[in-house]
Amino acid sequence: MNQENIILVGFMGTGKSTVGKELARRLNYRFVDLDTEIVEREGCSIPHLFETKGEMYFRDCESAALAELLRNPAGVVIATGGGAVLREANRLHMAQSGWVVGLQAQLSTIVKRVHGDGNRPLLQGDAERRIRQLMAERQGLYDFAHASIPTDFRSAIELADEIMQLLEQRDERC
Ligand code: S3P
Repeated sequence: MNQENIILVGFMGTGKSTVGKELARRLNYRFVDLDTEIVEREGCSIPHLFETKGEMYFRDCESAALAELLRNPAGVVIATGGGAVLREANRLHMAQSGWVVGLQAQLSTIVKRVHGDGNRPLLQGDAERRIRQLMAERQGLYDFAHASIPTDFRSAIELADEIMQLLEQRDERC
């Protein structure tokens, strides 16, 4: 299997970080969570960053961290934040720099998974209403992924199995 970047995209609560860690373990790749990267660089939490500097500043940090990661040698599994697909430049960059897998989930699954999570500033207040709204705004933005898989009612192990199979099938075709 060629060493390349594997980039997970998807809405909040689709399991990008959990699945990404499992995938990296199996492939013996480094795992990077883009949000964690931003927190380390900025020295403060995501909610604090949104509150003090605003979403636009966060998006700039996100794009810069992503670009830097993608510049480095391949062999990294990257779990992006749900909004990393908002900028076209990020989408293009991801599509050109690795194999992009989209994780999908239904509204009800996402609501269950993010329930009571204070670490997602965009979901404060009526989380279900916010998720519905953001999903509508982001419709189609995850479709650039090279492969997409539904995650509802499935464990990280099952999802990593499926992604490994997709990778193998793809490599057989090449
Ligand atoms: C965001 C998703 C979050 C985080 C930030 C914004 C979004 O990451 O980057 O709160 O805009 O969808 P997760 O998808 O890992 O929750």
